[in-house]
Amino acid sequence: MRAYDLIKKKRDRTELSKEELTFLITKYLSNEIPDYQMSSFLMAVYFNGMTDNETLVLTELMLNSGSKLNLSDISGPKVDKHSTGGVGDKTSIILAPLIASTNVKVPMIAGRGLGHTGGTIDKLESIPNFRTNISLQEFKENVKNIGLSIISQTDEIATADKRLYSLRDVTATVESIPLIAASIMSKKLSEGIDGLVLDVKVGSGAFMKTIEDARMLAKTMVNIGNSMEVKTIAIITDMNQPLGRTIGNSLEIKECISALRGKMPDDLKEVVLTLGSWMLYVADCVADGISVSRLSEQSVIRYKSELMDFIEKGEAFKKFVEFIDAQYGDPEVAFRPGLIPSAEKKKHITIPAKGYISKIDAEKTGIASMLLGAGRSRYGEDIDRSAGIILNKKVGDLINHNEPVAMFHYNIENHLKEAEDIFISGVQVDELPPDKKPLILDSII
Ligand code: URA
Repeated sequence: MRAYDLIKKKRDRTELSKEELTFLITKYLSNEIPDYQMSSFLMAVYFNGMTDNETLVLTELMLNSGSKLNLSDISGPKVDKHSTGGVGDKTSIILAPLIASTNVKVPMIAGRGLGHTGGTIDKLESIPNFRTNISLQEFKENVKNIGLSIISQTDEIATADKRLYSLRDVTATVESIPLIAASIMSKKLSEGIDGLVLDVKVGSGAFMKTIEDARMLAKTMVNIGNSMEVKTIAIITDMNQPLGRTIGNSLEIKECISALRGKMPDDLKEVVLTLGSWMLYVADCVADGISVSRLSEQSVIRYKSELMDFIEKGEAFKKFVEFIDAQYGDPEVAFRPGLIPSAEKKKHITIPAKGYISKIDAEKTGIASMLLGAGRSRYGEDIDRSAGIILNKKVGDLINHNEPVAMFHYNIENHLKEAEDIFISGVQVDELPPDKKPLILDSII
Protein backbone atom coordinates (compact mmCIF):
# COMPACT_ATOMS: atom_id res chain seq x y z
CA MET A 1 0.00 0.00 0.00
CA ARG A 2 1.21 3.54 -0.78
CA ALA A 3 -0.03 6.86 0.63
CA TYR A 4 0.04 8.23 -2.93
CA ASP A 5 -2.62 5.73 -4.09
CA LEU A 6 -4.86 6.46 -1.12
CA ILE A 7 -4.68 10.22 -1.71
CA LYS A 8 -5.53 9.58 -5.38
CA LYS A 9 -8.47 7.37 -4.39
CA LYS A 10 -9.93 10.05 -2.10
CA ARG A 11 -9.27 12.68 -4.77
CA ASP A 12 -11.30 10.55 -7.20
CA ARG A 13 -14.15 10.05 -4.69
CA THR A 14 -13.66 6.33 -4.10
CA GLU A 15 -14.44 5.01 -0.62
CA LEU A 16 -11.40 3.91 1.40
CA SER A 17 -11.50 0.61 3.26
CA LYS A 18 -10.79 0.13 6.96
CA GLU A 19 -7.35 -1.34 6.08
CA GLU A 20 -6.50 1.68 3.93
CA LEU A 21 -7.50 4.21 6.59
CA THR A 22 -5.64 2.19 9.23
CA PHE A 23 -2.53 2.29 7.02
CA LEU A 24 -2.77 6.08 6.62
CA ILE A 25 -3.22 6.84 10.33
CA THR A 26 -0.71 4.34 11.73
CA LYS A 27 1.99 5.22 9.20
CA TYR A 28 1.41 8.93 9.81
CA LEU A 29 1.79 8.44 13.56
CA SER A 30 5.03 6.49 13.05
CA ASN A 31 6.30 9.31 10.78
CA GLU A 32 6.44 7.04 7.72
CA ILE A 33 3.89 9.27 5.99
CA PRO A 34 5.09 12.91 5.92
CA ASP A 35 2.97 15.98 6.71
CA TYR A 36 2.76 16.99 3.04
CA GLN A 37 1.07 13.74 2.05
CA MET A 38 -1.29 13.82 5.03
CA SER A 39 -2.11 17.46 4.17
CA SER A 40 -3.06 16.43 0.63
CA PHE A 41 -5.23 13.66 1.98
CA LEU A 42 -6.97 16.08 4.38
CA MET A 43 -7.58 18.53 1.54
CA ALA A 44 -9.08 15.73 -0.56
CA VAL A 45 -11.40 14.92 2.38
CA TYR A 46 -12.23 18.62 2.72
CA PHE A 47 -13.44 18.70 -0.89
CA ASN A 48 -14.91 15.21 -1.29
CA GLY A 49 -16.08 14.37 2.24
CA MET A 50 -16.20 10.88 3.72
CA THR A 51 -18.86 8.18 3.79
CA ASP A 52 -20.51 7.37 7.15
CA ASN A 53 -18.43 4.22 7.30
CA GLU A 54 -15.15 6.02 6.60
CA THR A 55 -15.98 8.64 9.27
CA LEU A 56 -16.76 5.93 11.81
CA VAL A 57 -13.52 4.07 11.03
CA LEU A 58 -11.48 7.29 11.25
CA THR A 59 -13.06 8.08 14.64
CA GLU A 60 -12.24 4.59 15.94
CA LEU A 61 -8.66 4.86 14.72
CA MET A 62 -8.20 8.25 16.39
CA LEU A 63 -9.86 7.02 19.59
CA ASN A 64 -7.67 3.89 19.68
CA SER A 65 -4.50 5.91 19.03
CA GLY A 66 -4.63 7.04 22.68
CA SER A 67 -5.79 5.93 26.13
CA LYS A 68 -9.43 5.30 26.94
CA LEU A 69 -10.70 5.88 30.43
CA ASN A 70 -12.60 3.13 32.13
CA LEU A 71 -15.08 4.64 34.58
CA SER A 72 -17.17 1.49 34.97
CA ASP A 73 -16.24 1.21 38.65
CA ILE A 74 -17.89 4.59 39.31
CA SER A 75 -21.58 4.10 39.99
CA GLY A 76 -24.35 5.95 38.15
CA PRO A 77 -24.63 7.49 34.68
CA LYS A 78 -21.64 9.45 33.38
CA VAL A 79 -22.79 12.13 30.94
CA ASP A 80 -20.85 14.87 29.17
CA LYS A 81 -21.83 17.86 27.07
CA HIS A 82 -19.79 19.28 24.21
CA SER A 83 -20.20 22.42 22.16
CA THR A 84 -18.80 22.75 18.64
CA GLY A 85 -17.51 26.20 19.60
CA GLY A 86 -18.75 29.74 19.69
CA VAL A 87 -18.31 33.22 21.13
CA GLY A 88 -19.15 33.85 24.79
CA ASP A 89 -20.13 30.20 25.14
CA LYS A 90 -19.43 29.46 28.79
CA THR A 91 -22.17 26.86 29.24
CA SER A 92 -19.82 23.94 30.09
CA ILE A 93 -18.48 25.78 33.15
CA ILE A 94 -22.03 26.32 34.46
CA LEU A 95 -23.41 22.94 33.41
CA ALA A 96 -20.70 20.65 34.75
CA PRO A 97 -21.19 21.63 38.44
CA LEU A 98 -24.95 22.05 37.96
CA ILE A 99 -25.42 18.54 36.59
CA ALA A 100 -22.97 17.05 39.09
CA SER A 101 -25.02 18.64 41.90
CA THR A 102 -27.99 16.52 40.75
CA ASN A 103 -25.82 13.41 41.25
CA VAL A 104 -25.10 12.70 37.58
CA LYS A 105 -21.34 12.37 36.99
CA VAL A 106 -19.69 14.71 34.46
CA PRO A 107 -16.24 13.72 33.12
CA MET A 108 -15.21 16.42 30.63
CA ILE A 109 -12.16 16.75 28.40
CA ALA A 110 -12.30 20.25 26.95
CA GLY A 111 -10.38 22.37 24.47
CA ARG A 112 -8.64 25.72 24.18
CA GLY A 113 -9.85 28.65 22.11
CA LEU A 114 -8.71 29.18 18.56
CA GLY A 115 -9.36 32.14 16.23
CA HIS A 116 -12.56 33.94 17.14
CA THR A 117 -13.87 31.10 19.33
CA GLY A 118 -13.15 30.71 23.03
CA GLY A 119 -12.27 27.51 24.91
CA THR A 120 -13.33 26.14 28.30
CA ILE A 121 -9.73 25.37 29.32
CA ASP A 122 -8.48 28.94 28.77
CA LYS A 123 -11.45 30.24 30.74
CA LEU A 124 -10.87 27.93 33.71
CA GLU A 125 -7.15 28.79 33.76
CA SER A 126 -8.05 32.40 34.58
CA ILE A 127 -8.91 31.16 38.10
CA PRO A 128 -5.69 31.62 40.13
CA ASN A 129 -3.75 28.32 40.49
CA PHE A 130 -6.49 26.25 38.78
CA ARG A 131 -4.99 23.21 37.04
CA THR A 132 -6.47 21.67 33.89
CA ASN A 133 -3.45 19.38 33.38
CA ILE A 134 -4.04 16.97 36.26
CA SER A 135 -3.36 13.28 35.60
CA LEU A 136 -6.02 10.95 34.22
CA GLN A 137 -5.97 9.18 37.59
CA GLU A 138 -6.79 12.43 39.44
CA PHE A 139 -9.43 13.21 36.82
CA LYS A 140 -11.08 9.87 37.54
CA GLU A 141 -10.85 10.35 41.32
CA ASN A 142 -12.49 13.77 41.07
CA VAL A 143 -15.34 12.33 39.00
CA LYS A 144 -15.76 9.62 41.62
CA ASN A 145 -15.47 11.85 44.70
CA ILE A 146 -17.11 15.12 43.71
CA GLY A 147 -18.99 14.13 40.54
CA LEU A 148 -17.06 16.16 37.98
CA SER A 149 -13.71 17.06 36.52
CA ILE A 150 -12.65 19.16 33.53
CA ILE A 151 -9.21 18.67 31.97
CA SER A 152 -7.44 19.61 28.75
CA GLN A 153 -6.64 17.05 26.10
CA THR A 154 -3.45 15.23 27.08
CA ASP A 155 -0.91 13.55 24.77
CA GLU A 156 -2.38 10.26 25.93
CA ILE A 157 -5.92 11.06 24.68
CA ALA A 158 -6.73 10.63 20.96
CA THR A 159 -3.06 11.10 20.03
CA ALA A 160 -3.82 11.05 16.30
CA ASP A 161 -6.34 13.88 16.68
CA LYS A 162 -3.78 16.10 18.36
CA ARG A 163 -1.38 15.71 15.42
CA LEU A 164 -4.03 15.91 12.74
CA TYR A 165 -5.69 18.97 14.29
CA SER A 166 -2.40 20.92 14.31
CA LEU A 167 -1.93 20.04 10.66
CA ARG A 168 -5.53 20.98 9.74
CA ASP A 169 -5.09 24.28 11.53
CA VAL A 170 -2.28 25.37 9.18
CA THR A 171 -3.62 23.79 5.97
CA ALA A 172 -7.15 25.31 5.94
CA THR A 173 -8.78 21.93 6.44
CA VAL A 174 -10.53 22.48 9.79
CA GLU A 175 -14.00 23.18 8.38
CA SER A 176 -14.81 19.68 7.16
CA ILE A 177 -17.83 17.88 8.64
CA PRO A 178 -16.31 14.35 8.79
CA LEU A 179 -12.98 15.66 10.14
CA ILE A 180 -14.69 17.79 12.82
CA ALA A 181 -17.02 14.92 13.75
CA ALA A 182 -14.17 12.37 14.04
CA SER A 183 -11.99 14.85 15.96
CA ILE A 184 -14.64 15.76 18.53
CA MET A 185 -16.05 12.26 18.95
CA SER A 186 -12.65 10.55 19.31
CA LYS A 187 -11.96 12.75 22.35
CA LYS A 188 -15.44 12.43 23.82
CA LEU A 189 -15.53 8.65 23.45
CA SER A 190 -12.23 8.33 25.30
CA GLU A 191 -13.80 9.77 28.48
CA GLY A 192 -15.56 6.55 29.46
CA ILE A 193 -19.00 8.22 29.28
CA ASP A 194 -22.41 6.53 28.90
CA GLY A 195 -24.20 9.55 27.46
CA LEU A 196 -23.39 12.72 25.51
CA VAL A 197 -25.28 15.89 24.65
CA LEU A 198 -23.82 17.84 21.74
CA ASP A 199 -24.46 21.54 21.26
CA VAL A 200 -23.96 22.15 17.55
CA LYS A 201 -23.68 25.88 17.01
CA VAL A 202 -24.81 27.53 13.79
CA GLY A 203 -24.35 31.12 12.63
CA SER A 204 -21.69 33.73 12.04
CA GLY A 205 -19.68 32.82 15.18
CA ALA A 206 -19.79 29.05 14.56
CA PHE A 207 -17.90 26.63 12.30
CA MET A 208 -21.23 25.76 10.68
CA LYS A 209 -22.72 28.73 8.89
CA THR A 210 -25.96 27.10 7.66
CA ILE A 211 -28.61 25.03 9.42
CA GLU A 212 -28.20 22.30 6.77
CA ASP A 213 -24.49 21.92 7.58
CA ALA A 214 -25.21 22.03 11.32
CA ARG A 215 -27.81 19.24 10.92
CA MET A 216 -25.35 17.18 8.88
CA LEU A 217 -22.59 17.58 11.52
CA ALA A 218 -25.08 16.79 14.30
CA LYS A 219 -26.34 13.66 12.53
CA THR A 220 -22.80 12.47 11.82
CA MET A 221 -21.76 12.81 15.48
CA VAL A 222 -25.00 11.31 16.84
CA ASN A 223 -24.52 8.35 14.52
CA ILE A 224 -20.90 7.85 15.68
CA GLY A 225 -21.85 8.07 19.38
CA ASN A 226 -24.76 5.66 19.17
CA SER A 227 -22.74 3.22 17.01
CA MET A 228 -20.20 3.13 19.83
CA GLU A 229 -22.80 2.57 22.51
CA VAL A 230 -22.77 6.04 23.99
CA LYS A 231 -26.31 7.45 24.10
CA THR A 232 -25.87 10.62 22.08
CA ILE A 233 -28.19 13.44 21.09
CA ALA A 234 -27.50 16.85 19.54
CA ILE A 235 -29.17 20.22 19.95
CA ILE A 236 -28.66 22.89 17.31
CA THR A 237 -28.39 26.39 18.79
CA ASP A 238 -27.98 29.84 17.31
CA MET A 239 -24.55 31.50 17.36
CA ASN A 240 -25.21 34.71 15.43
CA GLN A 241 -24.65 36.94 18.46
CA PRO A 242 -22.37 36.14 21.44
CA LEU A 243 -23.98 34.12 24.22
CA GLY A 244 -24.52 36.05 27.45
CA ARG A 245 -22.90 39.38 28.24
CA THR A 246 -19.17 38.60 28.37
CA ILE A 247 -16.50 37.46 25.89
CA GLY A 248 -12.98 36.72 27.16
CA ASN A 249 -11.69 34.29 29.74
CA SER A 250 -11.76 35.92 33.19
CA LEU A 251 -14.82 38.00 32.30
CA GLU A 252 -16.65 34.81 31.34
CA ILE A 253 -15.67 33.08 34.60
CA LYS A 254 -17.17 36.02 36.51
CA GLU A 255 -20.38 35.64 34.49
CA CYS A 256 -20.42 31.89 35.31
CA ILE A 257 -20.12 32.67 39.02
CA SER A 258 -23.14 35.00 38.80
CA ALA A 259 -25.01 32.35 36.79
CA LEU A 260 -24.34 29.69 39.42
CA ARG A 261 -25.76 32.14 41.97
CA GLY A 262 -28.95 32.39 39.85
CA LYS A 263 -28.25 35.55 37.84
CA MET A 264 -28.13 34.72 34.13
CA PRO A 265 -28.95 36.71 31.00
CA ASP A 266 -32.01 35.22 29.27
CA ASP A 267 -30.16 33.73 26.29
CA LEU A 268 -27.52 32.04 28.45
CA LYS A 269 -30.22 30.69 30.78
CA GLU A 270 -32.20 29.23 27.89
CA VAL A 271 -29.20 27.39 26.45
CA VAL A 272 -27.96 26.19 29.88
CA LEU A 273 -31.38 24.86 30.93
CA THR A 274 -32.09 23.24 27.57
CA LEU A 275 -28.74 21.43 27.38
CA GLY A 276 -28.89 20.57 31.09
CA SER A 277 -32.37 19.09 30.70
CA TRP A 278 -31.17 16.91 27.87
CA MET A 279 -28.21 15.80 29.97
CA LEU A 280 -30.60 14.68 32.72
CA TYR A 281 -32.82 13.00 30.15
CA VAL A 282 -29.88 11.09 28.68
CA ALA A 283 -28.77 10.12 32.22
CA ASP A 284 -32.25 8.72 32.90
CA CYS A 285 -32.17 6.74 29.64
CA VAL A 286 -28.78 5.30 30.71
CA ALA A 287 -30.07 4.44 34.19
CA ASP A 288 -33.22 2.81 32.77
CA GLY A 289 -31.34 1.10 29.94
CA ILE A 290 -33.62 2.56 27.26
CA SER A 291 -32.85 4.16 23.92
CA VAL A 292 -32.71 7.98 23.77
CA SER A 293 -35.22 7.95 20.92
CA ARG A 294 -37.92 6.39 23.14
CA LEU A 295 -39.14 9.55 24.90
CA SER A 296 -40.58 12.72 23.42
CA GLU A 297 -39.01 16.16 23.71
CA GLN A 298 -41.87 17.16 26.00
CA SER A 299 -40.62 14.85 28.70
CA VAL A 300 -37.46 16.94 28.91
CA ILE A 301 -39.28 20.13 29.92
CA ARG A 302 -39.89 19.02 33.51
CA TYR A 303 -36.12 18.84 34.09
CA LYS A 304 -35.80 22.60 33.64
CA SER A 305 -37.54 23.48 36.89
CA GLU A 306 -35.58 20.76 38.65
CA LEU A 307 -32.33 22.39 37.47
CA MET A 308 -33.49 25.85 38.54
CA ASP A 309 -34.12 24.39 42.01
CA PHE A 310 -30.54 23.13 42.22
CA ILE A 311 -29.31 26.62 41.30
CA GLU A 312 -31.67 28.44 43.65
CA LYS A 313 -30.90 26.15 46.59
CA GLY A 314 -27.18 26.90 46.12
CA GLU A 315 -26.29 23.27 45.32
CA ALA A 316 -24.74 24.06 41.92
CA PHE A 317 -22.65 26.89 43.42
CA LYS A 318 -21.46 24.61 46.25
CA LYS A 319 -20.39 22.02 43.67
CA PHE A 320 -18.49 24.69 41.73
CA VAL A 321 -16.55 25.62 44.88
CA GLU A 322 -15.68 21.93 45.47
CA PHE A 323 -14.59 21.62 41.84
CA ILE A 324 -12.22 24.62 41.97
CA ASP A 325 -10.74 23.33 45.21
CA ALA A 326 -10.25 19.78 43.84
CA GLN A 327 -8.30 21.18 40.85
CA TYR A 328 -5.99 23.34 42.99
CA GLY A 329 -7.71 26.65 42.20
CA ASP A 330 -8.47 29.30 44.81
CA PRO A 331 -12.09 28.55 45.86
CA GLU A 332 -12.33 32.02 47.44
CA VAL A 333 -12.83 33.45 43.91
CA ALA A 334 -16.35 32.02 43.88
CA PHE A 335 -17.20 34.28 46.83
CA ARG A 336 -15.00 37.21 45.76
CA PRO A 337 -14.80 37.23 41.93
CA GLY A 338 -12.69 40.40 42.22
CA LEU A 339 -9.76 38.09 43.08
CA ILE A 340 -9.68 37.01 39.43
CA PRO A 341 -7.18 39.30 37.67
CA SER A 342 -8.79 42.04 35.60
CA ALA A 343 -7.39 44.17 32.78
CA GLU A 344 -5.79 47.51 33.55
CA LYS A 345 -7.48 49.45 30.79
CA LYS A 346 -11.13 49.82 29.84
CA LYS A 347 -12.83 51.65 27.00
CA HIS A 348 -16.52 52.32 26.28
CA ILE A 349 -17.45 51.53 22.70
CA THR A 350 -20.15 53.77 21.28
CA ILE A 351 -21.90 53.98 17.93
CA PRO A 352 -23.33 57.13 16.39
CA ALA A 353 -26.85 55.72 15.96
CA LYS A 354 -30.17 55.56 17.80
CA GLY A 355 -32.73 52.76 17.62
CA TYR A 356 -32.94 49.04 18.18
CA ILE A 357 -29.90 46.80 17.98
CA SER A 358 -30.65 44.28 15.23
CA LYS A 359 -27.24 42.61 15.04
CA ILE A 360 -24.10 42.07 17.12
CA ASP A 361 -22.06 39.82 14.87
CA ALA A 362 -20.63 36.92 16.88
CA GLU A 363 -17.62 36.29 14.63
CA LYS A 364 -16.62 39.97 14.51
CA THR A 365 -17.02 40.26 18.31
CA GLY A 366 -14.88 37.14 18.72
CA ILE A 367 -12.18 38.57 16.43
CA ALA A 368 -12.27 41.90 18.32
CA SER A 369 -11.83 40.05 21.61
CA MET A 370 -8.94 38.04 20.11
CA LEU A 371 -7.28 41.28 18.95
CA LEU A 372 -7.55 42.66 22.49
CA GLY A 373 -5.45 39.65 23.52
CA ALA A 374 -8.14 37.25 24.77
CA GLY A 375 -7.68 34.71 21.96
CA ARG A 376 -5.02 33.17 19.77
CA SER A 377 -4.72 33.29 16.01
CA ARG A 378 -2.37 30.27 15.96
CA TYR A 379 -2.31 27.04 17.92
CA GLY A 380 -0.08 27.33 21.03
CA GLU A 381 0.05 31.16 21.18
CA ASP A 382 -0.06 32.89 24.60
CA ILE A 383 -3.17 34.81 25.55
CA ASP A 384 -4.14 37.55 27.99
CA ARG A 385 -6.76 35.99 30.24
CA SER A 386 -8.03 39.29 31.60
CA ALA A 387 -8.78 40.84 28.19
CA GLY A 388 -12.21 40.75 26.58
CA ILE A 389 -15.51 42.50 26.01
CA ILE A 390 -18.60 43.16 28.13
CA LEU A 391 -21.75 43.76 26.11
CA ASN A 392 -23.96 46.47 27.59
CA LYS A 393 -26.54 45.82 24.90
CA LYS A 394 -27.86 42.73 23.15
CA VAL A 395 -29.94 42.26 20.00
CA GLY A 396 -33.40 43.77 20.54
CA ASP A 397 -32.23 46.42 23.07
CA LEU A 398 -32.82 50.14 22.53
CA ILE A 399 -29.75 52.32 22.19
CA ASN A 400 -29.37 56.09 22.24
CA HIS A 401 -26.92 58.16 20.24
CA ASN A 402 -23.40 57.50 21.58
CA GLU A 403 -24.65 55.29 24.40
CA PRO A 404 -22.01 52.57 25.06
CA VAL A 405 -22.83 49.29 23.36
CA ALA A 406 -19.86 47.52 24.96
CA MET A 407 -16.84 47.92 27.20
CA PHE A 408 -13.43 46.69 26.03
CA HIS A 409 -11.04 45.32 28.67
CA TYR A 410 -7.35 45.18 27.66
CA ASN A 411 -3.77 45.62 28.76
CA ILE A 412 -2.00 46.07 25.43
CA GLU A 413 -3.16 48.66 22.89
CA ASN A 414 -1.43 47.31 19.74
CA HIS A 415 -4.64 46.23 18.04
CA LEU A 416 -7.17 48.38 19.90
CA LYS A 417 -8.23 50.45 16.87
CA GLU A 418 -8.53 47.37 14.68
CA ALA A 419 -10.61 45.62 17.38
CA GLU A 420 -12.88 48.64 17.69
CA ASP A 421 -13.40 48.92 13.92
CA ILE A 422 -14.20 45.28 13.46
CA PHE A 423 -16.56 45.17 16.46
CA ILE A 424 -18.45 48.29 15.32
CA SER A 425 -18.73 46.97 11.76
CA GLY A 426 -20.65 43.99 13.21
CA VAL A 427 -23.22 46.10 15.09
CA GLN A 428 -26.38 47.11 13.29
CA VAL A 429 -29.08 49.49 14.53
CA ASP A 430 -32.56 49.78 12.99
CA GLU A 431 -35.57 52.02 13.62
CA LEU A 432 -37.89 49.12 14.40
CA PRO A 433 -37.29 46.28 16.86
CA PRO A 434 -36.01 43.12 15.14
CA ASP A 435 -38.17 39.96 15.08
CA LYS A 436 -37.28 37.70 17.97
CA LYS A 437 -35.44 34.67 16.57
CA PRO A 438 -35.36 31.28 18.33
CA LEU A 439 -32.13 30.24 20.05
CA ILE A 440 -32.84 26.54 20.09
CA LEU A 441 -33.23 25.53 16.47
CA ASP A 442 -33.50 21.74 16.34
CA SER A 443 -32.75 18.52 18.14
CA ILE A 444 -31.25 15.44 16.51
CA ILE A 445 -32.01 12.22 18.34
N1 URA B 1 -13.19 21.06 17.78
C1 URA B 1 -12.47 19.92 17.75
O1 URA B 1 -12.16 19.33 18.77
N2 URA B 1 -12.10 19.44 16.54
C2 URA B 1 -12.43 20.05 15.38
O2 URA B 1 -12.07 19.55 14.35
C3 URA B 1 -13.18 21.24 15.44
C4 URA B 1 -13.55 21.73 16.67
